[in-house]
Amino acid sequence: MLVDRFKRHVTYLRVSVTERCNFRCRYCMAEKPFSWVPKENLLSYEELFAFIKIGIDNGIQKIRLTGGEPTTRENLDELIAMIHSYAPDVDIGLTTNGYLLPSLAHKLKKAGLRRVNISLDSLDRNTLHYIAQKDVLPEILQGIEAAVEAGLSVKINSVILRNINENEVVSLFNYAQSIHAQIRYIEYMENSHATNTLQGLRSDEIIDILGKSIPFIPIEKELGGPANLYETADGYRFGTIEPHRHDFCSTCDRLRLSAEGDLIGCLYFEGAKSIKEAIREGNDAETKAILNDVVYNKPEKNMWGVENFEVSSRAFYRTGG
Ligand code: GTP
Ligand code: 5AD
Ligand code: SF4
Repeated sequence: MLVDRFKRHVTYLRVSVTERCNFRCRYCMAEKPFSWVPKENLLSYEELFAFIKIGIDNGIQKIRLTGGEPTTRENLDELIAMIHSYAPDVDIGLTTNGYLLPSLAHKLKKAGLRRVNISLDSLDRNTLHYIAQKDVLPEILQGIEAAVEAGLSVKINSVILRNINENEVVSLFNYAQSIHAQIRYIEYMENSHATNTLQGLRSDEIIDILGKSIPFIPIEKELGGPANLYETADGYRFGTIEPHRHDFCSTCDRLRLSAEGDLIGCLYFEGAKSIKEAIREGNDAETKAILNDVVYNKPEKNMWGVENFEVSSRAFYRTGG
């Protein structure tokens, strides 16, 4: 079992398989050139799996593949299949921008993927083009459709930005409800890799906007999950993710592995440790020692909303959000 200083049990591993992305979302990697990470620095699927196996043997029950954009790494189904055949009960999820799902959804489901969280910030083609810096709406909508058709459980993630997509809070809700997918509105997390004029809406503003036309009540959140949840009278559930508050941190069950092998205790990641050398040497005892150390030293909470902390230099594309 993996337990930290605050008696939190770590059971959920987020594995970033690449820092690369085929979009340039303004809140994530606004200015990056399109290929900048040398491929050799990445852990291979075999190396990632070697670590994941140790994680599973020590109590990891949920794995989410993230990026950058995880589907831009070739043969992602192979990694999923390795995990799934080692531990069929482990819940495997994927966080993606959805662009490549039209051709991948079925293959990934067949390999053992259960759940997919897809970013969709706008239903207006030009607005989404502005945010992602690429004309992507048709492909994303097809990707969402393909995921639903493949039988994957789908959630929609939307970041709401002032004067950009704030007029779409209700239309995004209606769209997500129409495909029976839970939508989560994510508060923009300020960071130095984003376009510096961006301003996010806070969750209470989003809830106010929705409340004007849709009746709903707050319900209990999923244990360990980041979202505060709400339910409409006809049983549709949606959520808000509020990194500027810390009530999520006290039950946080997560650990992150970057594509280059850094093990990270918290979304705000001071104190990461590399497992690359230990994994490449096949030294399981050393890998396990690093794992225990990073878990034990998991920070009590992330830094958004903490006094004097406004903008992170942390890049979300390194650790997949
Ligand atoms: P499931 O609960 O497995 O569906 O996934 P998730 O909601 O954790 O994953 P997803 O990748 O869809 O993340 C959604 C948003 O939650 C992203 O903006 C993440 O940055 C944010 N998030 C994920 N993990 C954490 C965390 O440890 N702390 C905080 N504050 N936010 C997080
Ligand atoms: N603030 C809030 N959410 C972000 N994401 C990426 N960068 C940020 C940010 N700066 C979201 C993506 C994706 C999820 C993993 O994180 O839209 O849905
Ligand atoms: Fe790519 Fe996701 Fe970052 Fe957008 S938020 S640039 S889709 S990694």
